[in-house]
Amino acid sequence: MSSRTDLTCDFNRLYADAVGSMGLEESELERFADRATVVHRAVFDAVPADRPGFLRLPDQLQAAQEIAAAVTADRRQFKNFVVLGIGGSALGNTALQTALNHPFYNFLPANKRGGCPRIFVLDNIDPDLIAGLTEALDPAETLFNVISKSGQTAETMAQFLYFIRLLSDRLGDEAADHMIITTDATSGPLRAAADTLGCRSYAVPDGVGGRFTVLSPVGLISAAYAGIDIEGLLQGAARMRERCQSASMMENPALFYSAAHYLLNTVKKTNISVLFAYAQRLKDLADWYRQLLAESLGKRRNLDGDEVSLGVTPVKALGVTDQHSQVQLYVEGPRDKAFTFLTVDSFAAQVTIPSRGKIPEGQDYLAGSTFNSLLDAELRGTELALQEAGRPSCRITFPKVTAETVGQFLLMMELHIAYSGLLYNVNAFDQPGVEAGKRATFALMGRAGFEELRQRILAEKGRADRIMG
Ligand code: PA5
Repeated sequence: MSSRTDLTCDFNRLYADAVGSMGLEESELERFADRATVVHRAVFDAVPADRPGFLRLPDQLQAAQEIAAAVTADRRQFKNFVVLGIGGSALGNTALQTALNHPFYNFLPANKRGGCPRIFVLDNIDPDLIAGLTEALDPAETLFNVISKSGQTAETMAQFLYFIRLLSDRLGDEAADHMIITTDATSGPLRAAADTLGCRSYAVPDGVGGRFTVLSPVGLISAAYAGIDIEGLLQGAARMRERCQSASMMENPALFYSAAHYLLNTVKKTNISVLFAYAQRLKDLADWYRQLLAESLGKRRNLDGDEVSLGVTPVKALGVTDQHSQVQLYVEGPRDKAFTFLTVDSFAAQVTIPSRGKIPEGQDYLAGSTFNSLLDAELRGTELALQEAGRPSCRITFPKVTAETVGQFLLMMELHIAYSGLLYNVNAFDQPGVEAGKRATFALMGRAGFEELRQRILAEKGRADRIMG
């Protein structure tokens, strides 16, 4: 039984009777049902050690309560909270802030933020960005949370070295009070640094890959500092996990979503998945999902070791902004995309377009209406345009954007990726391509143990006649 606080998934426009030949036939889905059931059982009925670790996170309510209590005790002491991390150690943090905070949270006076600090996620190493943040924030008023599961990602470690030096120079022994470290419980250079520094630290849970950690201390600490209901996030995730207990894909939204998108990709040859958020609050959930899909399913080899080079390219889009940028391509361009709209039933605000005063000729149809109904009309218009152009889409609706519904969405998409890994027969939980880039960076930066790779990279010279300027 679904309830009024559950996400709704409308899959109508994925079917051939709605969009024609790019859509799925009911019979096609029916034939796939047994395979979907097998995949579901492989995820849920595996021995606990083989079950994806992210499925355990919704049960960590006590840990979340402890985080909330620790954070409530000191969050009013800091004007700023800065996350230092990248990829799975940053994207979830941003997504939670965008979804659940005031849209201009950092611009609000402290009393309108409940005394909570302003939140920044520094997921890049552009020197102008680092220098800019240093100029903009006073370290004495700032709490940093460095997050790295491996504890040795070059970008994050460089940020850590930079800001801990800055803090020590300014604050001496008190520097440790301005740093929280989130990393592996026992291993890695960052864990050693936490021990040496004696600062507060949290553990990234065992068996949960970086991009699946948003509901662990990786994502929950910055959320708690902004006053977000982190228990609600876990409760929402638990609710979605419960909804997805069914081995029948007609009753399990994550399983149906996975099966349908697998068929669209492999049979209808859609190889681009557009997550189109029709709510500003949801736009960074699309960014979070972009990494989840790309890193998890974009694989050179399958689980049998065969070279397959497969993957679906994720694209994030924002309504209505991208209606005036991308929709021309989506409606009339190549038939290589499947669309998922993220929508909200009930926005926090209702804003009326005034009907008083002089209205320019022909514009009175807008007067007295609301931005809410205009946004809804734009969404429906885009869905319809895609449908008429024979492009498959589906819609995931948040009754409201709350911690509970965001938690549901996060878990649903993580589960979808776990199912999809099995459907495609790839390891959804590793990222050898990312690791290759990390090793090359270590080599180029002169890290010990990478000398041979460094020599090989430096020996590679492009041809001069192919370089212009
Ligand atoms: O999903 C992943 O594993 C990656 O995106 C990592 O999160 C990212 O590379 C950062 O790694 P780490 O947390 O070890 O610094």
